[in-house]
Amino acid sequence: MRPILIAMVAVVGISVALVSMAFATARPEKRLASPIYGVTLPEGYRQWALIAPAQEAAPLDELRVVVGNAVAIEAYRDGTLPLPDGSVLVKLAWKRVPSPEFAPASIPGAATTVQVMVKDSKRYAATGGWGFGRFIDGKPADEAQHRTCYACHQSGVRNHDLVFTRYAH
Ligand code: HEC
Repeated sequence: MRPILIAMVAVVGISVALVSMAFATARPEKRLASPIYGVTLPEGYRQWALIAPAQEAAPLDELRVVVGNAVAIEAYRDGTLPLPDGSVLVKLAWKRVPSPEFAPASIPGAATTVQVMVKDSKRYAATGGWGFGRFIDGKPADEAQHRTCYACHQSGVRNHDLVFTRYAH
């Protein structure tokens, strides 16, 4: 009886150790949150649908695309304003580079920033219902940069829920 018990305890012990190791390695990397707003890079945004591209003139000289999650895309297509809670918008940006294969064309060079806006009308009531995040190489920019977001969106956007980008049909 004894050896069987010892063997059973050993098997259970090894299984517990293996399961906890599996959990430890499967745990997703901790996503860093933006100052002030606590916004993180949303999972899977590279697969989100396009709202519109944009180009920024020099000195930044960038190509950009704005994409949205399913909640935001549905609201855009239906013309729903303000955008509902749960809407998330992401703007990706790259340096604009002339194509080495066809001079008049521009292509994306080095990635610069990924910016995020999250709609939560209660949590972000003080900033028009939007939380902001700017990420460089996956890391949030400093607090000073995050102080600029709401100010520019609030003063620049006309009757479009603080969102500059209109749907490109
Ligand atoms: C000086 C003005 C200005 C500031 C400051 C600014 N933005 Fe924007 N933002 C824009 C403009 C203009 C667009 C429209 C797209 C484009 O031209 O790049 C835009 C677009 C966006 C979009 C796509 C949705 C939309 O409104 O079109 C997100 C997301 C975004 N900005 C996040 C941020 C975050 C986060 C910050 C702060 C870290 C920030 N922005 C600061 C001007 C600004």
